[in-house]
Amino acid sequence: MKTLLCIKHILWLLCLSSSAVFMTRPVSGSLSGKVVLPCHFSRVPTTAAAISTKTTALPAVEYLRIKWTKVEDGTETTVLVTQNGIIKIGQGYRSRVSVQSHPEDVGDASLTMVKLRASDAGTYRCEVMHGIEDTQDTVSLDVTGVVFHYRAKTSRYTLTYPQAVQACQDVGASIATAEQLRSAYEDGFDQCDAGWIADQTVRYPITRPRPGCYGNLQNKAGVRSYGLRAPTDTFDVFCYVDKLEGEVFYSPTAEKMTFAEAEEECRKQQAVLASPGQMHSAWRKGLDRCDYGWLSDGSARHPVSVPRLQCGGGLLGVRTMYRFRNQTGFPTPSTKLGAYCFKGRITYMNLIQTLGCQIENVCIARLHLKRLWMVLCCQIGL
Ligand SMILES: *[C@@H]1O[C@H](CO)[C@@H](O)[C@H](O)[C@H]1NC(C)=O
Repeated sequence: MKTLLCIKHILWLLCLSSSAVFMTRPVSGSLSGKVVLPCHFSRVPTTAAAISTKTTALPAVEYLRIKWTKVEDGTETTVLVTQNGIIKIGQGYRSRVSVQSHPEDVGDASLTMVKLRASDAGTYRCEVMHGIEDTQDTVSLDVTGVVFHYRAKTSRYTLTYPQAVQACQDVGASIATAEQLRSAYEDGFDQCDAGWIADQTVRYPITRPRPGCYGNLQNKAGVRSYGLRAPTDTFDVFCYVDKLEGEVFYSPTAEKMTFAEAEEECRKQQAVLASPGQMHSAWRKGLDRCDYGWLSDGSARHPVSVPRLQCGGGLLGVRTMYRFRNQTGFPTPSTKLGAYCFKGRITYMNLIQTLGCQIENVCIARLHLKRLWMVLCCQIGL
């Protein structure tokens, strides 16, 4: 009886995994990283050229045209077009996209894209004209990862380089690289506070130059740099977090809570207070809420994904509640606020528990198949 039950579970899990396999999987890349959008076509030469050689003395030149476009709201914008060795690249993709130098030899018109931006996410279409053959395909691209500014609870510019590295780790992130900050800037990130970067330089991104934020670039938009600094110098920091391995949610309790009560509330929900890193990746995935809530580091923030004047002044991003007007200090722990909790993705241990198998009766096939754990539960001795 018990074995039968287990077999049912196995089948159910297999079904879950195989449906994921057969779906056309979107290509996923990380901010500032690299992806290849696949597109293949038949390499078999067409007969058109062979026919024409009989009537003319011209050599058989195979016509090849590759066109990549991005499809947005029904309109297509050109990413890259190559025809007879001439390449045209669309605005915003310069020095970021390429195809193989001899696609016809391998039947491969895949597009390589580097220095990925969040705004690169979307649907792409490739169209290959090879001789008289026309091949079309669409690929969807997802870009994960977000760069955020982090200020210690004490005050502005208080972190040494080692402390900055640690601060990002403590909030569920890692110190951002210069490339990640650059990509975030290209997506519109603007922050007039100097922060440590992984290469021990200090920088900040400005899309709207204004007094107090000129740095080394004067009136030009761009990422300002203070260059390489002594590790004992003190600044804020820019952290990077990739995709969320779980879920962030606002506590359903209507009552506002102190920091300690918020911790307790998340525990009741079988969760923990979310870290600022988790909050930023949840925001990146569309979390939107107008109420400030406690986070694990003792800060209070809320995510704005839909611009509204009455919520965050029409600005997008994770808003931070500071204690002082000069944007320093976290709220005192007795302040009554909401809570943002985090619940991790399903693990094989709690999957076993969900299936109701006894730990000692379980043998586990840990196939890490597209993030789906397959759990095999059987009775020892069978
Ligand atoms: C910010 O304001 C607080 C309170 O007025 C003050 O104690 C602190 O020194 C100020 N910090 C900075 C960096 O100006």
